[in-house]
Order: sequence, then structure tokens, then C-alpha cells
Amino acid sequence: MLVAHPCDFILWCPGASALRRLRVGLEVRSDVFVCLESARDKAKTARAGTEARESTSDRSGVPPPAHLDSIYSLSAGKKDTIYYFAHMTLFLVLALYVLLILIWLVCFFFLLLMSYGIVTTKVPYVPIPQHVIDEVKRLLAMKAGDQFYDLGSGDGRVIATIGSAYPDAFATGVEKAPLPYTLTQIRFWRKPLKNVKTLFKNFSRVPLSNATHIYMYLFPEVVEKLLPKFEAELKKGTRVISCDFPFKTKEPIETVVVAGRHKHTLYVYEF
Ligand SMILES: C[S@@+](CC[C@H](N)C(=O)[O-])C[C@H]1O[C@@H](n2cnc3c(N)ncnc32)[C@H](O)[C@@H]1O
Repeated sequence: MLVAHPCDFILWCPGASALRRLRVGLEVRSDVFVCLESARDKAKTARAGTEARESTSDRSGVPPPAHLDSIYSLSAGKKDTIYYFAHMTLFLVLALYVLLILIWLVCFFFLLLMSYGIVTTKVPYVPIPQHVIDEVKRLLAMKAGDQFYDLGSGDGRVIATIGSAYPDAFATGVEKAPLPYTLTQIRFWRKPLKNVKTLFKNFSRVPLSNATHIYMYLFPEVVEKLLPKFEAELKKGTRVISCDFPFKTKEPIETVVVAGRHKHTLYVYEF
């Protein structure tokens, strides 16, 4: 017997086959038919049961046979349990669909922002490990009042380390891609630092005349394009550290190889 169920509307969903099997399983068991009936059918069944018992009682003048009561009370108990599990299953399937859609949307949005960042900056967001930042911090050897810039500051991890290591100096992060910039905002919203500033900008449009220390982790062609800007704007003695990609035409004053899962090389320059 195929009967209507108020939650039939989701049975078309792909992946609801488990639910469909459950429903078929329910239907083939005669003692649980009632759980899939419409409210009207259920009322009708209940009424029919009462009439049957009354008529049995009337005809014989004795109470209805005990097995009728037991059948009805047993079916009611099972009915409740099965209703409960059927609705729980429907609820869980729906919740799973909503969750999967949300995960899909988040991943899609994340990939969209990543691709946008790479297309506009030509340098992917690749955060540097903490032990390399610690080495950068050591090589910078900053003092009170110094101005540090991270050009392409990613998620803000470098300015966060430098800002907390040198509370009397200033750290500025310049980032153009929306995703890492949003991560930076979340980082400093959770743990604000008074001496740290973030700019949502292209670093080639940021004046660097007040910089005393600069760090960057970019690509060779981008590093090369920055050299004329540095030579034109940086004051004498400004220290620049480039991670992994050196200037082709300028000699570093120091080169440090930082071991780890991925080896990184820090090139230290003085302008
Ligand atoms: C390899 S990641 C380095 C992130 C961070 N400095 C670190 O070391 O963890 C390079 C970052 O530079 C950013 N970037 C590239 N070109 C940029 C530009 N012209 N202006 C601002 N940010 C830029 C990219 O969006 C990316 O997040």
C-alpha cells in the first residue's frame, strides 16, 4: 500500500535513497502502516478500532477480546517511536544538505578570493613559517622609534611578531589581496596591537621614505621592479630583507639559510 506522507516532498532528493529504503521498510510491515497514513486515515483507523471493540462487546455482552487491545496499544507505541525516528532522519538529511551547501559556498567564495588575489597581485598568498619570522626578527635588529614595513603582508603574521617583539617601534603591513587582508583584520581584531597598522593597498603606491626596515616575500620579477623605488625613496641605512628571491643587481650584506621542512633563504640588504 502506498500512502501519503507529509515529508514526501524531500524524497526526490538525490541521496535520500536511505530514507526511501526506510520508508519502504516501514510500509512492508503491516503493524506500522499506520505511521505513514495521513492524519485523516489515522483518525479513521482509530474510530474503526473503537467501533470494532464496541460492537464486539455489544454483541457478546462481554468485554472485547484482550488481543484487540494489545494490538492497538502496541501499534500506538510503535507508531510514536517510528514517527520519531522518521522525522529525526528527515531532519538529519535536511540538516546535512544545508551543511553541504554551506561548505560548498564557503569553499567557492574562498577559492574565488584566492584566485582574485593571485590574478591582481601575481604573487600567491603563501605564509612564511614562524621559525623563519623569528630569524627575520633577529636580523632586523630594530630599536625604539623604527618603522618596519612588510610589503605584501599576507595574513599579518610578520607584522604581528615584529609589533609585539618591538613595542616601541612601528610596523605597517601592506596587502592588496582581499582574502589575506581579511585574515589580517581578524588577527588584529582578536589581538590588537597599538603599534601595528595595516593598509589595503598596492605597495608600489605606498611612500617608503620613513621606512627604516623592510621585509618582503614576493616573486623575482616583483622584487626586481621594487629596486628602483627603493633606490629613489629609501633613506640611507634602511635595511631590507627579501625572503627567497634576491635582487639580481645588488649584493646582500648577509645571506642566511633557515632550515626546516622547506628551506628558506633570507637576503639582507642595506640601502
Ligand atoms: C608570499 S605572500 C607573503 C605573505 C607574508 N609577507 C609572509 O611572509 O607570510 C605574498 C603576499 O604579497 C601580496 N602582494 C603581492 N603583490 C602585492 C602588491 N602589489 N601590493 C600589495 N600586496 C601584494 C600577495 O597578495 C600575498 O599575500
